[in-house]
Amino acid sequence: MSEYIVVIFGATGDLAKRKLIPALYHLIEKYDVQNFCIIGGAFDNTSAQEILKKVKAHILPTDEKRWQYFESRFFYHHIDFKHEADYTSFKREIDNCKNRLNLHSGNTLIYFATASYFFTDITTYIAKTEIAKRTTSSNSPWTRLIYEKPFGHNLLSAHAINNAISQYFNEDQIYRIDHYLTKELVGNIALVRFTNLVFEPLWNNRYIDNVQIILSEHEGIGSRGQYYDHFGATSDVMQNHMLELLALIAMETPKTLYGNHVRDERAHVLQKVEVVDSFYGQYQGYTDEPFVDKTSTTETFTAAFLRIDNPRWAGVPFYLKTGKCLSKKETTIHIKFKSVDCLLTTCSMSANVLTIEITPKAGFSLRLNAKKPGEAHEVTPITMDFCHSCIFGQLDEKAYETLLEGIIRGEQSVSVRFDEIEYAWKIIDRLKEGKHDLFPYSCGSEGPKEIELFNKKHGIRWLS
Ligand code: BG6
Repeated sequence: MSEYIVVIFGATGDLAKRKLIPALYHLIEKYDVQNFCIIGGAFDNTSAQEILKKVKAHILPTDEKRWQYFESRFFYHHIDFKHEADYTSFKREIDNCKNRLNLHSGNTLIYFATASYFFTDITTYIAKTEIAKRTTSSNSPWTRLIYEKPFGHNLLSAHAINNAISQYFNEDQIYRIDHYLTKELVGNIALVRFTNLVFEPLWNNRYIDNVQIILSEHEGIGSRGQYYDHFGATSDVMQNHMLELLALIAMETPKTLYGNHVRDERAHVLQKVEVVDSFYGQYQGYTDEPFVDKTSTTETFTAAFLRIDNPRWAGVPFYLKTGKCLSKKETTIHIKFKSVDCLLTTCSMSANVLTIEITPKAGFSLRLNAKKPGEAHEVTPITMDFCHSCIFGQLDEKAYETLLEGIIRGEQSVSVRFDEIEYAWKIIDRLKEGKHDLFPYSCGSEGPKEIELFNKKHGIRWLS
């Protein structure tokens, strides 16, 4: 890292305060970057000091001197994203910063930490006012644009945003990101599948009974009502994080585990996903959360039954389940193998299950059968564990640092290609088609009790 100008649209939001600005601070610290300037913009009438006071709570430990230096290079400017004239004064703020700090040769990162319904306006106006210009990967200095997920709120809006972006910028400047792709255990999925011969021959509908992807969250929506009420659980995490996990689990062997080879295979799988059924819930008290419509029918819990229409996966159900305000925080994938036939002497074997735990613990476990001690033909399930933190130490939550580092290096693999996004929205649009019941559930529970009917209808037995 050398010299940087970072522009954050949505600098007062939850993402900027909790993840993005702390990650920038840590990166600047890690690479001892001296010359940089961060300019935040948002609707709020606030100040850089006010924003950073909140950010500081997420940066531990803090080297006070370094923090003060960081503070001295962080600026805030009010902007109405939909108001073209505001971008002229915003540009002035950026130019002032460049002039004061002699940053004219600096590379520029522009981060869209806003809801996606602002993406088109911001993209258009930063191009028109030349806050950002079309460059190519070989240009120096470069400008890179980073769009947070979800990219749009359905297929149509995703297309509109993408058309606006490609009108003004080159594809190699664009990063549509999904922070799940930088999680340590997510990176491990393809590696473990394709480097261990014990798994790949069994990775198909002959041996796999079903796949479950579960993203449970203990927290409610907190102060994110304004954003969340427009999207709901299905678009907030299923359209991106969970479908990317599904794609990594189900893709064919890529030529290499890098860049477009992996993106090609992920896209092929997503293109073949079929929707069978879905189920929705809303936690009690959701409509009392700040900025949430009192009559909101936004779902905070979704379960989906999907299939993949290709020779490898024909007939294998993929079950996805996510929710806010549940009993625990956990992101897990279970791959349940088929049961073996009864042996002459015993029938009590359970199916093997490979579990990949992404958060909060990181690791894999494989459920096998073993002989019950002392009993001649009794079988007992045992678990073989790979605990990531036991071997490699506690995982730091560094997803955003890894992401920004990747973007600075120009690594496109941290970015989701538009065709993947397009296929994912087609799936979500189909899931949301028509009218669905919305079942209430209490906070801290496992979700709506009525999911039992959905489970019964499809013969689903969730593994957690
Ligand atoms: C974000 C969603 O993308 O992912 C949040 O907007 C969700 O609603 C979060 O809480 C989950 O990510 P993680 O890394 O905490 O599992």
